Amino acid sequence: MRFPAEPFRIKVVEPLRRVSREERERLIREAGLNIFAVPADSIYVDLLTDSGTSAMSDRQWAAIMMGDESYAGSRNFYHFEAAVRDIFGYKHVIPTHQGRVAENLLFSTVLKAGDIVPNNIHFDTTRANVQHQGAEALDLVIDEGHDPTSLHPFKGNLDPAKLDALLTVERARVPLVMLTVTNNSGGGQPVSLANARAVHDVCKHHKVPLFFDACRFAENAYFIQQRESGCANKSIREIAQEMFALGDGCTMSAKKDGLVNIGGFLALNDSEWSQRITNLLILIEGFPTYGGLAGRDLEAIAQGLQEVLSEDYLAFRIGQVAHLGERLSDGGVPIVKPVGGHAVYIDAKRFLPGIPQSEFPGQALVVALYLEYGIRAVEVGSLMFAQKDEKTGAMVYPKLELVRLAVPRRVYTTEHMRYVADSVIELYNNREKLRGLRLTYEAPVLRHFTARLEAIAASPAGAAR
Ligand code: F0G
Repeated sequence: MRFPAEPFRIKVVEPLRRVSREERERLIREAGLNIFAVPADSIYVDLLTDSGTSAMSDRQWAAIMMGDESYAGSRNFYHFEAAVRDIFGYKHVIPTHQGRVAENLLFSTVLKAGDIVPNNIHFDTTRANVQHQGAEALDLVIDEGHDPTSLHPFKGNLDPAKLDALLTVERARVPLVMLTVTNNSGGGQPVSLANARAVHDVCKHHKVPLFFDACRFAENAYFIQQRESGCANKSIREIAQEMFALGDGCTMSAKKDGLVNIGGFLALNDSEWSQRITNLLILIEGFPTYGGLAGRDLEAIAQGLQEVLSEDYLAFRIGQVAHLGERLSDGGVPIVKPVGGHAVYIDAKRFLPGIPQSEFPGQALVVALYLEYGIRAVEVGSLMFAQKDEKTGAMVYPKLELVRLAVPRRVYTTEHMRYVADSVIELYNNREKLRGLRLTYEAPVLRHFTARLEAIAASPAGAAR
């Protein structure tokens, strides 16, 4: 496949350290086979996340120098507010230091125990923040969104019929509906404008506010421009504006499509909700014109929101991720298709069919990628999601066992992607050497961050696993 070369040139470089295999072996062992505990400067290509890992542009660094660090009414806030209003169109703009705070402020203001929040698929922090209020986080993505082999062009779509059925019965328990663009937990898959319109119509009919989780809105808009009929001649800005006009507000982690290392916001039309949220903001984040950020950070976000709308940037960005997926697929590696906007997801169940989910095949793959090649990926499978059924005591494993290769924005060259693809393919060709893992320590919640594991010794030749 062809895609444009990098639409930027490099002005500052950050050296990468080549770490020997012996050192990697020691580091991953000391880390208890948990990649989160390996120091980042011992990693060659770090694909742990696309969040907060973007390279800022010269203009963003210049914006940093324009920081007005006044406690109240910093000029940077007004630039930030104007940039957010231009794209998202909502009346009230509330800065936060990252996305999950925007979620927490919103949900702690509008939810009560027993409520339900529908979404296509909640991202982990969104789900946790809904549940933290004693409410239920309900995923209503279309059926294709759960099928790693379906080639549906908008696998992030929320099923409007499922939503309508829910609201017909449970309207009183649903204070708002969310739509995550792109759908990170479903593989970075986009939501179409037609689907956003259909969801809007259902919400309007039942008089329920619609909020977007807008982290990767520009990538989503690019997919719409490329794939949705009637959208080829619209600009990214126009598509984003059209989509957000269908909603009543959004939460945003600017660490993704804000092209910055820290920051986020909540934007909404409802003045009463906004006032209550602002009161809470002052209590936990800061004054309403900085919300947990420095003035300079707000200026960098205002600039990043302009740059992310560039079609040259997005064609390269989406093309680079798709290209990584295509190389892997051509090499026989099973991946989730179509490739999403910010990451390639390896299907660990098909990569390591001999390792049962109780032995963490996804994590075994993550460990081997670091040990053999110095690459950091993240497991999105049984280590992250398996849970004990409270009634039966049996372990319930997630349907999908994935390993995410998330690509930071404007950070790695296409040669780095080639290195990653060649490494994963080589590992795939040697996959029979990989062994399952067992836990030696786990925390009661969000265990994947701090878990410790060990390899299960190879079984004697010929013995059944
Ligand atoms: N919503 C989505 C869809 C996300 O992907 C994330 C973060 C958040 C909300 C929370 O934002 O990190 O700024 O508090 N995703 C990162 C990831 C962490 O690696 O996918 P945050």
